[in-house]
Amino acid sequence: MTIQVNPSILSADFANLAAELERISTADAAHVDVMDGHFVPNLTLGLPVVEALRAVSPIPLDCHLMIEAPDRWAPAYAEAGAQGVTFHAEAATAPVRLARELRAAGARAGLALRPATPLEPFVDLLGEFDMLLVMTVEPGFGGQSFLDVTLPKIRRARAAIGASGLDVRLQVDGGVSSTTIERAAEAGADVFVAGSAVYGAEDAAGAVDQLRRLATAACAH
Ligand code: DX5
Ligand code: ZN
Repeated sequence: MTIQVNPSILSADFANLAAELERISTADAAHVDVMDGHFVPNLTLGLPVVEALRAVSPIPLDCHLMIEAPDRWAPAYAEAGAQGVTFHAEAATAPVRLARELRAAGARAGLALRPATPLEPFVDLLGEFDMLLVMTVEPGFGGQSFLDVTLPKIRRARAAIGASGLDVRLQVDGGVSSTTIERAAEAGADVFVAGSAVYGAEDAAGAVDQLRRLATAACAH
């Protein structure tokens, strides 16, 4: 299992996003948080910005849609060339149909769960997805503390993916740092989103490397 670290540009300088993407060119993908001010109490960026980022980014874009009505809006992000498009289970009307649309548009389909959303209703749908995102904070803002109460769900998700035999990535997002990443890795996560831990560091690439090393070591035992 290879570990991936995806820095979240939510913590980057929004006036200099092209340069901010260059700072993380050694990461596996850039995590792009799309918030609509309805699904979460924050408003960030949308399709035109994702299209512009896609044109200059040295690494793939992984879009995390924290929006209402993803059935309507998510496919355009796949068509814009995002490598991954993750929508929230709580917001989707027809998650299977939407996942199939995303895959048909050439993207990896991801399903995200807020901290209080149970995994179990979605276990039978795993085959429709390339990635499961277990939120480790309440979505909406960067810089929040990692919620340890989500660790049992990460463990159950890893067990469900293992039992299914499917190639589904298990991503965690929120409060991931050098002090919390090992706990998440031990619980079974293999893709780590980190915003403030990467962009808050002077050496962003060094922070990515350090996180990758810590997670890889924690996974090994
Ligand atoms: C939160 C976003 C996260 C956020 C993580 O709603 O989905 O991707 O950028 O930021 P940190 O790593 O600072 O918690
Ligand atoms: Zn996110």
